[in-house]
Amino acid sequence: LTLRVDNDDDWSVWRREWSFLPGITYLNHGSFGPPPRRVVDAQRQWQDALASEPMDFYVRELEPNLAGARARVAEFVGVRTDDLVFVENSTYGMNVVASSVDLRPGDEVVLTDHEYGAVFRIWQRACQISGARIVTAKLPWPIESTDHVVDAIAASFTPKTKLLICSHITSLTALVLPAEEICQAARKRGIAVCIDGPHALATLDLDLDGLDCDYYTASGHKWLSAPFGSGFLYVHPRAQPSIRPPILSWGRVGPETPERWYDEFNWLGTRDPSPFLTVPTAIEFLADVGIDPYRARCRRLVDDARIKIEELTQLGAITAGDRYVSMLAFPLPAGESRPLQLALRQRFGIEIPISDWQGRRLMRVSCHLYNRRDDLDLLVRSLAELLRLGM
Ligand SMILES: Cc1ncc(COP(=O)(O)O)c(C=O)c1O
Repeated sequence: LTLRVDNDDDWSVWRREWSFLPGITYLNHGSFGPPPRRVVDAQRQWQDALASEPMDFYVRELEPNLAGARARVAEFVGVRTDDLVFVENSTYGMNVVASSVDLRPGDEVVLTDHEYGAVFRIWQRACQISGARIVTAKLPWPIESTDHVVDAIAASFTPKTKLLICSHITSLTALVLPAEEICQAARKRGIAVCIDGPHALATLDLDLDGLDCDYYTASGHKWLSAPFGSGFLYVHPRAQPSIRPPILSWGRVGPETPERWYDEFNWLGTRDPSPFLTVPTAIEFLADVGIDPYRARCRRLVDDARIKIEELTQLGAITAGDRYVSMLAFPLPAGESRPLQLALRQRFGIEIPISDWQGRRLMRVSCHLYNRRDDLDLLVRSLAELLRLGM
């Protein structure tokens, strides 16, 4: 059965997989992407297995089960299974990189000015500890071409640049950055690259081997709709020898398996690994929907939002041409962000992020399988009313 991309009724079959509180219109999958029922059920089964026989679960079955789940994820993102390890989220992965890279006084770490705020904090601390320095690469505005982005980043490189941190899809501005070209430009100068990729997992075809970055971090609980607390860290073989987990426990569970760089990550003390083990179910779920129809549907809704919101605000969305996928950021007339966000929730039940970014007030619209055009109509009507009130 082919679902027509702009027909809301066709897609109601998938919408039923999610159960939001009545009265909530959820337009923030980009921050916290809840899993569909099938994924929730699969995770519960793993938790039941743990509760009913913890010895089997942890001591005998955990390593092979994690290896199986990792293999499925690795295939999905185009890497060797042994180059990837599960971590709770992108934040965790980024912290692993920050505490493993050998930064020396005077070294420079380049981040673009669109990076996620917490990522800035992680590298600020790493630089403070090591005596290295953050250099911010200002991306052109508006972004007119891929070359301009790459040139702006490359202009920040100096002989002291050790590492580049760059989003695959930026957070507040929701721009797809040209990761391949950026990696090439850095690698040409011998600079290591860490791609911050939580929004690209499931929204873009990933070929991490081909990307040739040194590190790639991702969260499963965004566009893949895997359980909360599921993510991965990819590490290129050239960077693996220096990778260390920030938390130390026993490491390998089964001493009979050969030693690997990620052994220490498999056993970080006793914890609930069900989010990791359920990631394959989320991949299967999207495969059943069809990854291309899924992306096309989300993008269609975003484009619909774009027409309606731009008409209301008379301000253009933040885009770099066609470089966006299932979310898009819209500048709003000047005003305070938090009261507007709260009023949308309290008066109209709409959950959507509104933030200040470089002197602009931005609203980011995310669309997923459970959204309909009604949701966007409600957003535009509600926003119009609140803006009229001077919010
Ligand atoms: C670009 C970017 N990087 C990192 C993160 C952190 O993701 P998480 O909270 O899953 O670790 C986010 C969260 O929204 C993000 O947008």
